Amino acid sequence: MTDKKFELVDRATERKAQLPVRNGTIGPSVVDISALNKDLGVFTFDPGFGLTAATESRITYIDGDAGTLLYRGFPIEQLAEKSSFMECAYLLLLSELPSRKQLEEFTSNIRYHTMLNETLLRFFNGFHHNAHPMAMVSAVVASMSAFYHDTMDIYNPRHREIFAHRIIAKIPTIAAAAHKHSLGQPFVYPRNDLDYCSNMLHMLFAVPCEPYQVDPIASQALDLLFILHADHEQNASTSTVRLAGSTGANPYAAISAGVSALWGPAHGGANEAVLAMLEQIGTVDNIPKYLDMAKDKSSHFRLMGFGHRVYKNFDPRAKIIREMCHKVLARLGRSDNPLFELALRLEEIALKDEYFVSRKLYPNVDFYSGVIYSAIGIPRSMFTVMFAIARTVGWVAHWQEMISDPGMRIGRPRQLYTGATKRDYTEITKRS
Ligand code: CMC
Repeated sequence: MTDKKFELVDRATERKAQLPVRNGTIGPSVVDISALNKDLGVFTFDPGFGLTAATESRITYIDGDAGTLLYRGFPIEQLAEKSSFMECAYLLLLSELPSRKQLEEFTSNIRYHTMLNETLLRFFNGFHHNAHPMAMVSAVVASMSAFYHDTMDIYNPRHREIFAHRIIAKIPTIAAAAHKHSLGQPFVYPRNDLDYCSNMLHMLFAVPCEPYQVDPIASQALDLLFILHADHEQNASTSTVRLAGSTGANPYAAISAGVSALWGPAHGGANEAVLAMLEQIGTVDNIPKYLDMAKDKSSHFRLMGFGHRVYKNFDPRAKIIREMCHKVLARLGRSDNPLFELALRLEEIALKDEYFVSRKLYPNVDFYSGVIYSAIGIPRSMFTVMFAIARTVGWVAHWQEMISDPGMRIGRPRQLYTGATKRDYTEITKRS
């Protein structure tokens, strides 16, 4: 809290509300509006929560104008270059970078939980072969609530820790099982001698009838993508996890809600939509036609992978992924990837277009990630699932932060009601 205060005056009644200002460690201050309703009898109106800080948080910081992203204070560029997904998971969950011993212990705790209960594996048989993997993942994650009653006391820190290890360990196994079910192939059990991302690739691509060698380039690329996707402060899916969790719902239910929220094309579903869009555009000659469609307000078409609620300069993750595309495609011997070429041209043309420039619409994290996923053999329907695996770390960190806050309250937005005023019920026989 600072000494600074805003005073809001209702001119009709001369009633006043004093609104104190609270400072963060960096970034814009916020106005604490708790006196508004008590003193003036009004609420705020902020559709889409564009201006509302719903919580205090110490996990991730974004400066959208400067294109800055920090996990616990560390710039994403440094983490992408020097860290690993497991280390970032530790950092996001436990606030500090681990010592070598702490990291080994954390990683082995995660490894310990990679297998799924066989009963849970059988859930997949209830899905049709063409079920979207996100549908399976969200349902199976929610079903985990039915398996771990002994560690579900949300106010017990040790239970919360076991939950964190379990969900981070098992979500790749669930994701891979969803993929295998779609293919009609047998599930592949996790290999705990492999690192997190190599094991993920093994479960996705190995088959029992022949040996499978994990490609270290693919595994490193996946690890980097997971670092970039691990957290992004109060985005829609994280806010969903917080809202669901604020009711006291068990954490598997809350994470499942997050998976569902991530699925939409305005959020994590964009990576799948970008590839569909690039395939639809097909050639550079068609780009102007699709840009016109994106600008046409009567069309529902948007340039997928472009624009962001917070980044109004550039998305630092997109910059890292674009560079990574060049490197990964070259190392995989696929430098002449036509979809990547098309994406580069689309970006170039859009960034010279007044519509995109004036609205500060830049490529976001999802614009290029699908190109890499495709290059390492991951099918389009699995892109958002891959995002969900990485973001699980952020969801868990935010859920933990919220539950361990003694001041936690149920999340419950208000509304501006514009429906019918009070009226009397009419018997059905008397209605025209
Ligand atoms: N294509 C065409 N026009 C756009 C786009 C786009 N991709 N994004 C925003 N606009 C326009 C929008 O129509 C509006 O124009 P006007 O001022 O004339 O009404 C203006 O730009 C501001 O957009 P907005 O919809 O108010 O912005 P928002 O903050 O509500 O939405 C967004 C952000 C990411 C949902 C949106 O930019 C979008 O739909 N982008 C495409 C989907 C996408 O790539 N999503 C991934 C986001 S990053 C990863 C993640 O969060 O998971």
